[in-house]
Amino acid sequence: MRQKRMNKMNLEQQVLEVIKNRRSIRRYKPHPVPREKIELLIEAARWAPSGENAQPWRFIVIEDSGKIKAIGKIAGMADRRQFSAEFAAGETEERLKKIRDPKKRQKIMEKLTGGHVSSFLENAPLIIIVCGRKDVWDLPYDCSAAIENILIMAVAAGLGTCWVESPVMDVRDEEKIKEMLQIPKNFKVLTAISVGYPDESPKPRPRLPRDDLVFYESFGRRETNV
Ligand SMILES: Cc1cc2nc3c(=O)[nH]c(=O)nc-3n(C[C@H](O)[C@H](O)[C@H](O)COP(=O)(O)O)c2cc1C
Repeated sequence: MRQKRMNKMNLEQQVLEVIKNRRSIRRYKPHPVPREKIELLIEAARWAPSGENAQPWRFIVIEDSGKIKAIGKIAGMADRRQFSAEFAAGETEERLKKIRDPKKRQKIMEKLTGGHVSSFLENAPLIIIVCGRKDVWDLPYDCSAAIENILIMAVAAGLGTCWVESPVMDVRDEEKIKEMLQIPKNFKVLTAISVGYPDESPKPRPRLPRDDLVFYESFGRRETNV
């Protein structure tokens, strides 16, 4: 059905459709991701733009369940630390103030402080670790472009992904991951991307209204001359 609709669309509409259909997927079917699909994701990443065409990125494809579990554990612990610190500082109330239902708020609070946000990584069939050369100025921008290409290509390939910063947010965790994966000292770990066949269809998360984001000729000017 979706394929039929896609066939009728022109290229612009198809690309936008793929972009809009991307969601962060955190629940996966247990099936492995076929090799040719992994290659497709890496090929998309390889064609991302980078400052001075430095291409500082490297991708480590991980299917070993022991390593995946270890990365998920690190991510869960990191979330627990971060959200507990936020809670202690009284920031969680502010973050959740729009949620009126006290039961729902409590549930989210427990999920955050219990380290259950990013620990889903443990159950992903595949993780791609994105790391890159520290000596390249534009490293975070370059790698972000490559990561987004992976996420978008995954949608077209029928896969789900999630960009997960948690396991490398803290430099001590990053060091653990570098050691586990034998990543050289002169490389920085940017992120983990979980990949698999989706076992959930989350609703789109809200986006800010277009008019709040776009200005013409100067910041804050909403009308265009054309
Ligand atoms: C830089 C970055 C870091 C993120 N880190 C995490 C993370 O550590 N854990 C997680 O579960 N999701 C993470 N996400 C996913 C976001 O929560 C998600 O993209 C956002 O809520 C919007 O939802 P959507 O991706 O479904 O549109 C991250 C996304 C980005 C771009």
